[in-house]
Amino acid sequence: MGHNRNDGHNTKLQVLIQPNIGLDSDVRHSVVEILNKTLANEAVLTLKTRNAHWNVSGAGFIELHILFDSQYEQLNDISDEIAERARMLGGIAIGSLQEFINYTRVEEQPGIVPDILRLLADHESSIRFLREDARKCTEDYEDEGTFELLVSVMRLHEKMAWMLRSYIENEPVHGESQGMIFKKDE
Ligand SMILES: [Fe+2]
Repeated sequence: MGHNRNDGHNTKLQVLIQPNIGLDSDVRHSVVEILNKTLANEAVLTLKTRNAHWNVSGAGFIELHILFDSQYEQLNDISDEIAERARMLGGIAIGSLQEFINYTRVEEQPGIVPDILRLLADHESSIRFLREDARKCTEDYEDEGTFELLVSVMRLHEKMAWMLRSYIENEPVHGESQGMIFKKDE
């Protein structure tokens, strides 16, 4: 560590203090990798949602303009939580557009204004990735902190997906038994 002494001039020199929090460094490394992939997904979906907010038009314009704005804000907050957890585990949070492109599992679609169905599909694929990554964090890595964070992020996506779905789906029909409501195709 001696040669890493910060002389106050070279900003690249820094002493990294690894967290002593009951998680081995290889575990923390694997979890940071998961967090950075998740961060990339969130960043791409955040921008796609903002694109939709900017460019939505036609019937329902004002409701959708507002809905997309509120989802954009939520996604922004999610990214912040995920990036900061990568730092808590002794890692570096990715923070460049090129890195987001390299790590994302949500498709970047230049030239396309995302509609509700496209955003819904992205939320649902994010939910599936989060569910699997959360399972890995608790079962393979025993990192309950990240598990809990990923589950809370998954639940926010589930709620956002529900709102998008509800905007376009038909009125529910009442089932035969009192109080039970199903969609027509179920
Ligand atoms: Fe706006």
